[in-house]
Amino acid sequence: MTTVSIDLRRPIGELDRRVFGGFVEHLGRCIYGGLYEEGSPLADERGFRQDVLTLLRDLRLSVLRWPGGNFVSNYHWQDGIGPKDERPVRPELAWGGTESNRFGTDEYIDYCRALGAEPYICLNMGSGTLEEALAWVEYCNSDRPTYWADQRRRNGHEEPHAVSWWGLGNEIYGAWQVGAMSADEYVAEATRWARAIKMIDPKARLVSCGELGWTDWDMRVIDGLASLVELHSIHLYTGSEEYWTNVLTPHAAERAIASAATALQRAAYAQRLAQPPRLVYDEWNVWFRNMTGALEERYAFHDALAVGTYLNIFVRNCAWVKMANLAQMVNAIAPIVTTPEAAVVQPIYYPFLLASSGHQAVAIDAYVDGATIEAPAELVTRWPHRLDGLGPFDLVDVAATCDVARSKVALSMVNRSEHAEQVDVVLRQGVFAADATVRCVTGDGSPASVPGVEAAQVSEGSAPHKDATVSVTLPPRSYVLMEARVGGA
Ligand code: AHR
Repeated sequence: MTTVSIDLRRPIGELDRRVFGGFVEHLGRCIYGGLYEEGSPLADERGFRQDVLTLLRDLRLSVLRWPGGNFVSNYHWQDGIGPKDERPVRPELAWGGTESNRFGTDEYIDYCRALGAEPYICLNMGSGTLEEALAWVEYCNSDRPTYWADQRRRNGHEEPHAVSWWGLGNEIYGAWQVGAMSADEYVAEATRWARAIKMIDPKARLVSCGELGWTDWDMRVIDGLASLVELHSIHLYTGSEEYWTNVLTPHAAERAIASAATALQRAAYAQRLAQPPRLVYDEWNVWFRNMTGALEERYAFHDALAVGTYLNIFVRNCAWVKMANLAQMVNAIAPIVTTPEAAVVQPIYYPFLLASSGHQAVAIDAYVDGATIEAPAELVTRWPHRLDGLGPFDLVDVAATCDVARSKVALSMVNRSEHAEQVDVVLRQGVFAADATVRCVTGDGSPASVPGVEAAQVSEGSAPHKDATVSVTLPPRSYVLMEARVGGA
């Protein structure tokens, strides 16, 4: 038996809908043969696969990061504009592929518009130059009669693309990155880029390239760039065949957020900034099976519990996490898998779908009183820097939100136990106005229509209320989104 106490008078932050963002990279079949497939009967005249677009729209994606990832560190955006048949085909260094450049900036922007998502472009700080980056910002955002803005007009886009978010490189710390640098080199280079980008577009919102949130790289970059960026990025991928390791490791994100938030506040204080930059998890997911090639990870249901836990952590930490981008969205480590004939979803699709559709504008404190679990020794030994010193963890992980009018609450609950769990959700003030609606995701390993893809099941029902309490039963190993109306005291 678990009791979850919520108090609408105890908000913990405004939930920025950008935490329900995605990331797509020119990698394997994510873009080509994924969301974009010219000539496919499932695609529109622009080459946008409509079945994929519908599934992405259902997720209500707020923002879409592009074009990489590692790919971007060797990507020259000017190759991807103008008549498609005249665009150069280039070797792609990050994943060993060949880039046709048929999906470029204008196609990406059109895709974001079709999806209703905000664009977020990561700049090439590997083989790219500052001049190229400035030209990209000019191409996208300038309304003046200048060369690159005129190129955009000639390519059919009279109005600026109005791209707010620009990433200052991707994983520049890593040897796998084209043009990797030391932290000091990166800070010096990114400082030059940031200042110049804000000269050409003072409204540009910049993202510094962070690592795990607690590393020496993060600390140096935060100290060096805090006055120039709006967000500092963190990447985290976790996963294991071992169940508890898989479902608990996302909690490492909580340490990362606490650690990076401390560094950001320290930098803001030392540099007399009005506000510290906030955080973006611009790559996060379960990923451990297919680490090379096209990264076509096949997800099991317990991966969905890990994804649900990540999302809960972003909601609980919404005062700091202002954006998060599930990496990635189609075919490559993705909730959506395509064949030439169909697009189907993997289990990790559902917690995102439910959290994105159900969670409200204000995160509220949820106190969980129930069974807990320690991180297994195997996990701590294998990844000491991840969970060492954290825990115990609630067996039922919870995040709660309410609307601005305080008339509706939503709770996402991840039952990691192998047993069903009875949960009483108790309002500290007021009463529930009606029974709650409950959407529940479970998995039994049954196949989806595409071979190798496992299905999950979503059921809908209600949970009874009495005064200030709703009682809901969480099935074993399940993700549940509960929504309820709140009345007067
Ligand atoms: O998302 C797959 C890869 O993971 C990205 O290209 C890179 O940024 C990260 O290492």
